[in-house]
Amino acid sequence: MDTPGRRPAESDAIMSELMMPNHANSLGNIFGGVVLSLVDRVGAVAAMRHARRQCVTVSVDKVDFAQPVHVGELITAYARVNWAGRTSMEVGVKVCAEDVVTGRRHETNSCYVTYVAIDADGRPVAVPPVAPDGPDDERRFREAAERRAARTRPRKPRDPDPPDGADTDEGR
Ligand SMILES: CC(C)(COP(=O)(O)OP(=O)(O)OC[C@H]1O[C@@H](n2cnc3c(N)ncnc32)[C@H](O)[C@@H]1OP(=O)(O)O)[C@@H](O)C(=O)NCCC(=O)NCCS
Repeated sequence: MDTPGRRPAESDAIMSELMMPNHANSLGNIFGGVVLSLVDRVGAVAAMRHARRQCVTVSVDKVDFAQPVHVGELITAYARVNWAGRTSMEVGVKVCAEDVVTGRRHETNSCYVTYVAIDADGRPVAVPPVAPDGPDDERRFREAAERRAARTRPRKPRDPDPPDGADTDEGR
């Protein structure tokens, strides 16, 4: 019997964290890695809600930080499964920052994270399909399938490694 699909809304996950001085650099701006940690945690909850399994992060798409986040702001991350393959899921995550005194809110970044459901031995295991519910879900599903195809497209084989000590442009 086929596994019934799960609606994207069933995976919805939200997490908030108040930004404290230990999250910031000397300018009072929050480190990007603090925001990325929240993204990964809320995304994992969405993936686990969809799969009802333990899930691991296999890839994070490009992340741009549009505006800085400051000490004292509340960051909230919203996550939802857009698409599922056999064992992997693409989760869309949006992060907003709020000055809780003034109520001013701004979006800081959004990104896509791919998780894989695993069994007790750490091996990939099948997840329920996504059953889009309405035009927005269908658009997200379609766009996620296109991104997935681009992500997993076979890449050109790497050039052989240069001998030890050879000059290279890597990392400049
Ligand atoms: C995730 C992991 C279990 C996958 O194992 P694997 O042997 O590569 O499994 P597969 O090749 O069968 O791939 C499993 C799924 O992941 C997808 N996948 C693999 N690499 C991917 C990538 N870089 N980007 C997107 N999807 C990817 C595959 O397409 C497949 O999807 P599907 O089943 O929906 O078609 C394994 O790579 C792993 O344990 N990685 C470390 C995870 C981790 O510790 N994350 C935290 C880092 S600190």
